[in-house]
Amino acid sequence: MADNPYPELKKTHTMARKGRPWTDYKPPPSAPVWGVIEGLGSYYILLAAIELNVFDTLQSLGPSRVDVLAEKLGVSEAHLQSLLDSLVALQLLDQFVDIYELNDTCERYLTSEGEASMADLISVAPGPHDNWKNLAETIINGRPSSPIEEDPTSFYVPLVEGTFTTMLRAATRTDLKIRYSKTPDLHVLDLGAGGAPWSIAVLKACPGATAVINDFSEVLEVAKRKTTESEVFERCEFRAGDFHDVEVEDNFYDMVFLGHVCRTEGEEGAKGLIERAFSALKPGGRLLLADYFIDLERKFNPHGVLMAMTMMASTMNGFQISNEQVTSWLRNSGFKDLRLIEPIGFQFVYVGTKPFDIAKEQK
Ligand SMILES: C[S@@+](CC[C@H](N)C(=O)[O-])C[C@H]1O[C@@H](n2cnc3c(N)ncnc32)[C@H](O)[C@@H]1O
Repeated sequence: MADNPYPELKKTHTMARKGRPWTDYKPPPSAPVWGVIEGLGSYYILLAAIELNVFDTLQSLGPSRVDVLAEKLGVSEAHLQSLLDSLVALQLLDQFVDIYELNDTCERYLTSEGEASMADLISVAPGPHDNWKNLAETIINGRPSSPIEEDPTSFYVPLVEGTFTTMLRAATRTDLKIRYSKTPDLHVLDLGAGGAPWSIAVLKACPGATAVINDFSEVLEVAKRKTTESEVFERCEFRAGDFHDVEVEDNFYDMVFLGHVCRTEGEEGAKGLIERAFSALKPGGRLLLADYFIDLERKFNPHGVLMAMTMMASTMNGFQISNEQVTSWLRNSGFKDLRLIEPIGFQFVYVGTKPFDIAKEQK
């Protein structure tokens, strides 16, 4: 069959002018398809730049020509040129004639000492790379061939190192929304704490606060180091074990954190964690449940949708959590006064309060 004789869509043939592109008389552009194909290369370009130390080296050298940088890194100049130009195209580096330099994005997120460094996260964030190659098989079988649950700590130790800076920023800025620092002696419980960014933020803001920090024992080593570096170690109790059955006191805590733990647990597991949090809280205590939630349209928060997909690709029970689901679980467990906050971009946290008079609330 002959193709449509018209050229592909131009800017003047937008939805606003012509209606939806796929109902237009001209064929839609192939850009979304190319965008996806190039996604794979884009990721590996960034990964190579991190592995070769491109950003840290450019930071120490200052704006540089490619030959100077290639000599410093001990790599092929021609190949490095391609990598640097690709980073420029991806807006992860600046270039003027033959000089390359860091832009604000890579200075903040991609240098190891950047204020919001994600440098350690790049290699681990997508989960085991082979699981992506086998995605169709995972969808057929209903489980990935190598789920991270088979060896959780070798995945989670580097992951929580990589996410720590981002989560600590989110946890610290959460105070601007819910003012936990007004109560100096909070008792907090952090289930699946990782490097304990949520507890550390509270312990730093509240001089009399204490924390019970739970995770697998290998991951708790990261939490011990991070709490020591933050000078709050003395106020922490480290409780190793599975968060579904580790011993937890009832009616004891002022705050419970479920920081990015629900989306790997399946519906029953996530509901179970929310119920554990409810029992552990004192009346008036608050649950902070941080995760990536999907919206009704699936397009307003693509990051949430794709993070859910990342879980599905690499875990046994990982799945998407919608805003409706999580709010109904929270309400059904007894939480009141639900709030959704976004302490930093793309990081969402539900805050729920355990009512003072549960019997009255349930009438
Ligand atoms: C995505 S990380 C989140 C870490 C931290 N809460 C945060 O918000 O940055 C998930 C954490 O849950 C822990 N985890 C997963 N399954 C667990 C289980 N069954 N029992 C205890 N911890 C678990 C992992 O070891 C990891 O540290």
